[in-house]
Amino acid sequence: MTAYVLVSRSAEYETRMRDLLGDRLAVIPGEFLTFGPESVVSRIPESPRIALLGPVLNYEETKGLVEALTAKHPHLGLIVVREQRSDLEDWVDELALHAVLNPDATDDTTVALLDRLGSWLVGNGHAETGDFDAPASIALSDLERTWDESELEAGVKPPSPATPVEPAPPEWEFPPLEAGVPTEAIAVVAPKGGQGKTTIAINLATGLAEISPNSVVLVDADLQFGDITAALALEPERTIVDAVSDAADDEIVLKTTLTHHADGFFVVASAPSPELGDQIRPGALARLIDRLRATFRYVVIDTTPGLGEHTLVTLEHVTDAVFVTNMGVPSLRALRTEFELLSTVGLMPGNRHIVVNQTDKNSGLTIKDVEKIIGAPVDIEVPKSSAVLLASNRGVPLIHDDVRDPAAKAIRSIVLRIAPEAFPKRSRIQRRRRSNEPE
Ligand SMILES: Nc1ncnc2c1ncn2[C@@H]1O[C@H](COP(=O)(O)OP(=O)(O)OP(=O)(O)O)[C@@H](O)[C@H]1O
Ligand SMILES: [Mg+2]
Repeated sequence: MTAYVLVSRSAEYETRMRDLLGDRLAVIPGEFLTFGPESVVSRIPESPRIALLGPVLNYEETKGLVEALTAKHPHLGLIVVREQRSDLEDWVDELALHAVLNPDATDDTTVALLDRLGSWLVGNGHAETGDFDAPASIALSDLERTWDESELEAGVKPPSPATPVEPAPPEWEFPPLEAGVPTEAIAVVAPKGGQGKTTIAINLATGLAEISPNSVVLVDADLQFGDITAALALEPERTIVDAVSDAADDEIVLKTTLTHHADGFFVVASAPSPELGDQIRPGALARLIDRLRATFRYVVIDTTPGLGEHTLVTLEHVTDAVFVTNMGVPSLRALRTEFELLSTVGLMPGNRHIVVNQTDKNSGLTIKDVEKIIGAPVDIEVPKSSAVLLASNRGVPLIHDDVRDPAAKAIRSIVLRIAPEAFPKRSRIQRRRRSNEPE
């Protein structure tokens, strides 16, 4: 298929790109812009995935083309081919372009940029990997025959403009971080396994996403046995292994490693196997957290139980830690030891939130007893509730699955401690119907 389309006024550049991309490229001479941008769009065969606009197109022409192209192909990747000039940033911002390519860039740089944008489109479901492959047989496209210059000069009548198609609103986007708004990273930790870290991390991300839609990322840093994607019924294409790879040094590639959840947050999925998870170095995890904080308002991190190297390094790179324990005496004692250790090594994050999960009147302990054992006041009590397991088995965050459940309400108060503006409005907490659910 012709995955790429080039609209330019440089025969030299067209020849170069034809040599580079062969039959995967359709070239539309910029001269057709005389008949309006729709005339160019109507000449594009099939549904291209990436458009290269330029060189030698002015701002108005590029703007008209972007509008007409995105009306017909809403998920098209847009690259402007233009030299570095002082007004380039305005072009990128105002025209919502994905990338800029210098016409003098080497072939390697050009191909690398096309590959990166291609992977980003694939990662976001706007293209298939195979779309960018070379076609098996070389078929002469109609383009070259129809659009020779003599026909243009003779004034070929352009076909009537394509019927404008209302652009589909994007399902989601990465909202830009507001200048001056601090970003927060919250680690959910526990000295022992099975205390409720994952449950709390998922619902914390869900609650924060209500006030900062698509500006929350949930990192499954339980490197060996992470289960966030299972609890959310997500099928990630990429995982934390990709997110810490060298290729993800590029911000666009890093974003393609995230999995989007319909409730307005992103997930860095756990490693596909414990062996691969084991290979992730603590420094790489720390760097990932820092990089995500540059893009997201909130980074929520689910961790491995205990105080292994990865969890320690995580605590060093967060603003908040949510400590989770149940009412069992061994867990409470372990939590006290964890506090002592973190204070000794100076790794207690600035904001500490102590959550006692699965509280139960029949445990034989009161909250006062709990506080005595752990040596600190309890901030939130989350009652034991069958709705927790039910939500997890349904693959839906508890706070959206069962709004009135007492455990859901308690977890909402953890969200409130971190984001006091997140008061629960009725409209916000209505459970959303899944697309695969009957009406
Ligand atoms: N408040 C609660 N009421 C009832 N069940 C709960 C509650 N919180 C968590 N659970 C259940 O306890 C189990 C462990 O919870 P979860 O997976 O969140 O813990 P975890 O600390 O992430 O465990 P792991 O250390 O294995 O990663 C799950 O089956 C979950 O459904
Ligand atoms: Mg867990």
